[in-house]
Amino acid sequence: MSTADILFDKLQHVTTAGPGCIYSRERCAELAPFVDAINELKKRRKAIILAHSYVNPEIVYGVADASGDSYQLAKIAKASDAEVIVFVAVRFMGETAKILNPGKTVLIPSEPDGCSLADSITGADVRKLKALHPGVPVLCYINTSAEVKAECDVCVTSSNVYDIVAKIPSRQIIFVPDKLMGKNVQEEMDRRGLDKELILWDGTCYVHEEYDPEMVRTLRDRHPGLQVMAHPECSPGILHLSDFVGSTSQLLKQMEKIDAPAYLMLTECGLSARLQVEMPQKQFVGTCSMCKYMKANNLADILRVLSEPKTRDFVEIPEDLRLKALACIERMFDYAG
Ligand code: 13P
Ligand code: SF4
Repeated sequence: MSTADILFDKLQHVTTAGPGCIYSRERCAELAPFVDAINELKKRRKAIILAHSYVNPEIVYGVADASGDSYQLAKIAKASDAEVIVFVAVRFMGETAKILNPGKTVLIPSEPDGCSLADSITGADVRKLKALHPGVPVLCYINTSAEVKAECDVCVTSSNVYDIVAKIPSRQIIFVPDKLMGKNVQEEMDRRGLDKELILWDGTCYVHEEYDPEMVRTLRDRHPGLQVMAHPECSPGILHLSDFVGSTSQLLKQMEKIDAPAYLMLTECGLSARLQVEMPQKQFVGTCSMCKYMKANNLADILRVLSEPKTRDFVEIPEDLRLKALACIERMFDYAG
């Protein structure tokens, strides 16, 4: 089969991400030369491509060597023996790969490369918080810059945050930057009967904070048996109405286990696109919510960073800062087991 046919075979069921996400035979034929050129260059440069599940499906299914949630990708980056890692996601994920692999070339192709959570806090902000609450351990969500991680004690991801907070031997914990995830963690600790007090920062994910509980109720009324699947960056009001809460990979795994007449995915629509590829028989309702940072990645830029990268495409982190950020991430691996 030609590359265009393989792409069409995979992507024909994708409908979730607006007009750009219609994978006709013609569109797949347009994408195929990029896919072939990237896969060829990848071999020559001894590179691997790691892609978050939110990026466009032609990247996940055309050129990525692995895709998943931020925890899985960090672990794969850590274990990799490739000389070059192209991290197709957002900057903080590429930084995490570089922190774990200082000897490797890490390239990030996207522009703009932000994240509303990572951009909400600086290292100086964390130092101020620590001065206000001396001796209180600081946990950071992985959606933070290397500079912020360097100021924090333990990193967490959406797949391990509840269990790691539960294990921290302190009643008070500073948790940055996601205020909504922090509130969800506080509720979960209360539910588990653990005496914890989380001190929160005012960051939010601009995609996940938008979901409206009223919309969930309306869709539940319209679709009897609807399964509501949410990411922990959503508000507590949304999580109260959800059947399952988890990281992007945990949501995907849960979807493999259950059978319902319809599903509402309360997370970025790249995940719904993956589900439509891998479980085309399932029915999805609701509208698409896109992360402009994740969707800034495209095949042309991946090809460019592999063939003629610009200075800004290389992730570089000063060694003293890297070592501090590494300690914060290594503690996550220790806690997560
Ligand atoms: P995951 O770790 O679940 O992939 O989440 C990362 C993220 O940015 C969600 O918005
Ligand atoms: Fe950041 Fe939200 Fe985009 Fe995830 S979806 S990368 S948290 S802005």
